[in-house]
Amino acid sequence: MGEIRQLNEALANKIAAGEVVERPASVVKELVENAVDAKATIIELDLEEAGLSSIRIRDNGAGIQSDEVLLAFSRHATSKIKNEHDLFRIRTLGFRGEALPSISSVSKIEIKTSTGSTGLFLKMHGGEVIEQKPSASRQGTDILVSELFYNTPARLKYLKTVHTELGNVTDIVNRIALSHPEISFRLRHNGKTLLQTNGNGDVRQVIAAIYGINIAKKMLSFTNESLDFQVKGYAALPEITRASRNYISILVNGRFIRNYAITRAIQAGYHTLLPIGRFPIVLLSVEMDPLLVDVNVHPSKQEVRFSKEAELVQLITDTITQLFKTQSLIPSGEKEKPAKTIRPSEQIAFSFHEPVRHQVDKENIQSLQKDTFQDPDMVRQDKIRETQPVLSKEDTVFPGSKAEEYLDEKKVSLSSHEVHDEQESISSRVPLLEPIGQMHGTYILAQNEDGLYIIDQHAAQERIKYEYFKKKVGDVQSELQDLLVPLVLDFSTDERIKILENKQDLEDVGVFLEEFGGNGFIVRGYPTWFPHGEEKNIIEEMIGELLQMKKVDVGKLREEAAILMSCKGSIKANHYLRREDMQQLLTDLRKTEDPFTCPHGRPIIIHYSTYEMEKMFKRVM
Ligand SMILES: Nc1ncnc2c1ncn2[C@@H]1O[C@H](COP(=O)(O)OP(=O)(O)OP(=O)(O)O)[C@@H](O)[C@H]1O
Ligand SMILES: [Mg+2]
Repeated sequence: MGEIRQLNEALANKIAAGEVVERPASVVKELVENAVDAKATIIELDLEEAGLSSIRIRDNGAGIQSDEVLLAFSRHATSKIKNEHDLFRIRTLGFRGEALPSISSVSKIEIKTSTGSTGLFLKMHGGEVIEQKPSASRQGTDILVSELFYNTPARLKYLKTVHTELGNVTDIVNRIALSHPEISFRLRHNGKTLLQTNGNGDVRQVIAAIYGINIAKKMLSFTNESLDFQVKGYAALPEITRASRNYISILVNGRFIRNYAITRAIQAGYHTLLPIGRFPIVLLSVEMDPLLVDVNVHPSKQEVRFSKEAELVQLITDTITQLFKTQSLIPSGEKEKPAKTIRPSEQIAFSFHEPVRHQVDKENIQSLQKDTFQDPDMVRQDKIRETQPVLSKEDTVFPGSKAEEYLDEKKVSLSSHEVHDEQESISSRVPLLEPIGQMHGTYILAQNEDGLYIIDQHAAQERIKYEYFKKKVGDVQSELQDLLVPLVLDFSTDERIKILENKQDLEDVGVFLEEFGGNGFIVRGYPTWFPHGEEKNIIEEMIGELLQMKKVDVGKLREEAAILMSCKGSIKANHYLRREDMQQLLTDLRKTEDPFTCPHGRPIIIHYSTYEMEKMFKRVM
């Protein structure tokens, strides 16, 4: 009816920007990724007010040819792919050709870029060119984005506080820095350095710059591969946990992504080593043929689809499980450093708590700030505060080379563990201990030449029983024993249907039901290995567990059954044990596969080394 019209490019960009540019962190992500794709080795970010006021990113990458700068700001213009074939073999972070037009349509932009010969300065407001002229010729790109969303007030309203937005920005920069240890990143906010990495290629040093050196020391490196995938990375010892999944960073072919299945696979690898509701710190990098992964799922390029997800998930879970199978995981009783409970938005506050902050030799400063970018064209150019101490390449996050030595040792000790054969490493993971006594009927105190060990007796027995019941559950052949008084249970109609549908699953965990009356069931017996005196409770709880499950998962049901039985069947706190009982418990614990945490992930055993004790009593300094 003559009412359909083509939108002009500026409006189309503004609409598309909604998906690419959600908040300052998305601008930061896109611009930093462009710098990475341009093969920069130094990337510097300066933000004012979490980027709400301005975001400036400078790199020493390839730069854009003067006659192509305007093109770069038009939609679907990219140098990264040429045809459909390339779309399935993407090795760069960008490929959609929409970040620059999207960002420029909702902000005021100034860009100065050069490929080494004459450069170009371009100023745009809301996607409209305001000014362009030749500029300095140093190779690289310098972009200043200010007043983000100035022309889309509705979007502006959705932004959170400066604190939250800054948290999102640091999160993104941290992840990109982790994926590119060979690039030196510096992030400054309102003139204050929040992150600096030295770009020497050592991931562990990036981890230390982000999470602190104490955490870096407690990260174990791993590597593994299957036919289609290679996985490698670092996983924190289970004693270090966080309240959110945010500390799990996943990279696929160098791109950081978010993926629930992989996150779950990592958690499954830790299994019962983590307390419920706590999450590990992990950096996982997966390499694969780009054909096996579709990165073109969403404009933000953070979601991907794998064509062999099940294989990948299995590989990851197995790798993490194996990693901890060979480790002694007894945490030290020594007080933890306060850095342990820091939330993502606070990382920034502690990311530099270790390094030396003395003034450094100016020549060593690895920075772009004094280069040709000092151009009056750039409004905020001289706002950079020279007085801020900047870390030199040599200083970086470690004072001297000690830390590196330490980290190297850690690697060595891991690989020497790996050569142990399975049997030996299991039996040696908890040392031989001599019980000294019991405290409050709850903790066993034990010793050996390495110091004092404190064992939570309930947790220890839960672990022992859990592993016992896990083997037992599913042993359908086992003999049944009659209940003295058969158990009659009544359910609603829908519950009855669900129970009947999953009757076999219940039998697999030892619950044998016969239909009885209208919606009722009767239980006449139970397997002989059920914990004594708890039979009825267990039967009822297992049925309850099944009814609660949206989708019945037999594996999970068995796991729950084993946990339930181990908990019910274990000695509680406030129960006095004879020395032989303690000895037996310790011996049984040593035989378990995972002697360090109870099935709920709480620690079983804590160690005070002789040295730590001597330090406490000031026998050594
Ligand atoms: N910092 C930079 N250094 C060198 N070239 C750059 C830089 N930023 C952008 N470019 C050039 O501008 C082009 C357009 O950038 P833009 O971010 O809009 O698209 P893209 O990176 O190709 O794809 P995507 O939209 O997925 O990010 C890039 O393909 C690249 O050639
Ligand atoms: Mg891009």
